[in-house]
Amino acid sequence: MSTNRTFTMIKPDAFGAGNAGAILKMIEEAGFKLVAMKITQLSGEAAGKFYAVHQARPFYKDLCAYMSSGPIIAAILEKENAVADFRKLIGATNPADAAEGTIRKLYATSIEANAVHGSDSDENAAIEGSFFFSEMEKVGV
Ligand code: CMP
Repeated sequence: MSTNRTFTMIKPDAFGAGNAGAILKMIEEAGFKLVAMKITQLSGEAAGKFYAVHQARPFYKDLCAYMSSGPIIAAILEKENAVADFRKLIGATNPADAAEGTIRKLYATSIEANAVHGSDSDENAAIEGSFFFSEMEKVGV
């Protein structure tokens, strides 16, 4: 069953470039409601845990270093068909392949520094949201 929620991070490149406000505006204008949101900075260890599914990949070490290199915004978003619609809004992982008008096309600088994260399934959205937020921090639960 779809939970109608997804999880996102505005990554260090986009946050550091001052694009967080513009990205949040795009997210809200696309119909997503903010359920929980915080500015935080991951430690290398926390980034490693969050991206543990990628630990066998050659980019894992660099990804963890990059994701812990500066502040991020973590957020839970709500909308019908949230996971799929959000992945459409952000575009392909590699900004070179991202469609015109997507967040990554507009704001990402590389496949690693790709501006935003979006969960790839309802199950991972729930796991990733709970990585950052307790039940009490979520609106409307
Ligand atoms: P994200 O959607 O957060 O999920 C995993 C992240 O790993 C991805 O965005 C990119 O930031 C990064 N990533 C995926 N593929 C590569 C790659 N080939 N080289 C470097 N980083 C990658």
